[in-house]
Amino acid sequence: MCGIVGYIGNKEAYPILIKGLQRMEYRGYDSAGVALLQSKEIKVFKCSGKVADLEAHCQGKDISGKSGIAHTRWATHGEPTDVNAHPHFSSDRKIALIHNGIIENHIALRQALIKEGYMFESETDTEVLIHLIEDIHKKENIDLVESVRLALTQVVGTYGIIVLSVDDPNTLIVARKGSPVIIGFGKDEYYVASDASALVEYTKKVVYLNDEEIAVLSKGNDLVVKNIHNETVPHSIQKLQMTLSQIEKGGYEHFMLKEIYEQPTSIAESMRGRLNLKKEIVALGGITEYEDKLLSARRFIIVACGTSYHAGLVAEHLFEDLVRIPVEVEYASEFRYRNPIIYEDDVVIAISQSGETADTLAAVELAKKKGALVLGICNVVGSSIARATHAGSYTHAGFEIGVASTKAFTSQVTVLTLMALSLAMRKEKIQRKQYTQMIAALEDLPNKVKYVLDSVNATVQEVAIYMKDFSNVLYLGRNYNYPVALEGALKLKEISYIHAEGYPAAEMKHGPIALIDENMPVVVIATKKGTYKKIVSNIEEVKARKGKIISIVTEGDVDVKNLSDFVIEIPETEEMLVPIIASIPLQLLAYYVAVMCGKNVDKPRNLAKSVTVE
Ligand code: AGP
Ligand code: GLU
Repeated sequence: MCGIVGYIGNKEAYPILIKGLQRMEYRGYDSAGVALLQSKEIKVFKCSGKVADLEAHCQGKDISGKSGIAHTRWATHGEPTDVNAHPHFSSDRKIALIHNGIIENHIALRQALIKEGYMFESETDTEVLIHLIEDIHKKENIDLVESVRLALTQVVGTYGIIVLSVDDPNTLIVARKGSPVIIGFGKDEYYVASDASALVEYTKKVVYLNDEEIAVLSKGNDLVVKNIHNETVPHSIQKLQMTLSQIEKGGYEHFMLKEIYEQPTSIAESMRGRLNLKKEIVALGGITEYEDKLLSARRFIIVACGTSYHAGLVAEHLFEDLVRIPVEVEYASEFRYRNPIIYEDDVVIAISQSGETADTLAAVELAKKKGALVLGICNVVGSSIARATHAGSYTHAGFEIGVASTKAFTSQVTVLTLMALSLAMRKEKIQRKQYTQMIAALEDLPNKVKYVLDSVNATVQEVAIYMKDFSNVLYLGRNYNYPVALEGALKLKEISYIHAEGYPAAEMKHGPIALIDENMPVVVIATKKGTYKKIVSNIEEVKARKGKIISIVTEGDVDVKNLSDFVIEIPETEEMLVPIIASIPLQLLAYYVAVMCGKNVDKPRNLAKSVTVE
């Protein structure tokens, strides 16, 4: 949800820290701060606002120091004020700490510490942690690493922390539980951050810290990692997959537009090595060893949030149509607290772009406890969910920086389609002919997506000019296209702040049609396949009440065209692949409306790219 970054070595820390915050600002941004170790004191600069506001705040100040920590915050406890910004300090101002996560039992800890005489400056949960550490450090007269470990044994909640101390100037102490932490190795120096984007230009050698691990980054010494029980644990240095160019805008005005236009490539990458056209074989290496369990599963339970949840709804159709297995799709946040019934022969599939969504991670842990096989469909290599699941497949969509998910969604659906096809063939639930057709359609998918990106742009911008002044929009779809309606509505509302709702088109007559008048634009995904005739009637129902129709149709359509105020045509493909193609114009529509409304497309208000808190 927020970003933490640290550096200790022989270079000036400030430029590395600030650039690290800028690279991670998409994760959450309502205040920012930096602490620098200078001879005998820790200098802290922090303020509400964005990283640029922090940079302005630091102008003209002494920002020297060869080790430091920095934080961009997405507030959970306490307003996004200067005082509540991180880093937070011990009472003697000799220790500074930054934190990503939530200390669930912060009230009890705060009350106990106040009884001990500690004064709190902020309203945050985080501040209890730094006072708890200093309390143990003083009372037990033990070293800071051990004090951090003992303090964390009293914490209920999640954390990704970095601790800096005047008394130990050559060391940073790092720990994680539920919030990501990556450690980078330089020449006689260490980097640490919430995600790889803050490290990639300095090093490719990284260690992903695991839950309940504490790392000691001591300049000139090897990395030491212990678990919460004070046992030294091994750690493997891995090669970072990401490149610097991947996180640059590449000439586009926004990361979101770049990522929308990357989809021909990202979809191809999702299939690379998994679709053998000549042999007509589909194989997802990451789950092959569990294929028998998948084939004998009682049902699939898909857990996800937001856009990933919508990918799960498409997958429900794919698995039930192709594999003939019952599927349930659950919001992870609801699932985890519902005391769900999970059988050992259930298969739970967690879908997550970031691989760090707290609710989805918790749902994974719950499913594992109940004995189910748990698979992950993630985009970020080495992410918490990817490492918490028994197996899974990466979507390989490339680094997605725009808070509104686009290429990750189409890559998720692509991988889920491959998975459904592979299982359908193994279960002999699909005719060879249909299988061959689907493989050919998948092979052609990147070209179709490129064609859509090139052909719909002008029309979509026309629709955006029309739509940008409305306060409410309805998105309608049926069957495979109902999740597309939900996804289109989410895209619009999360970056333009225009209220939008996705609905099953047939559901309109059960209430929502009361909303229809000339002030209600209605986007309808009305492609030729499946329940086409039914959706034409739904459009006529809306039309009869003066609703304005913006339709996504199969190229050459006439019936829906004659009923529409705006028509966006997409090329024909297999019904099961329509959600991937139909979502592209809706991504562009949301993007152009948001730009025309002057919104911050890549960093919409109140949102963060990775929701690592509840
Ligand atoms: C999508 O546009 C949103 N930014 C959000 O709904 C996102 O899909 C959701 O937070 C889940 O994230 P994840 O895929 O990283 O788990
Ligand atoms: N819970 C902490 C706070 O509200 C950290 C939030 C975050 O992860 O940014 O300050």
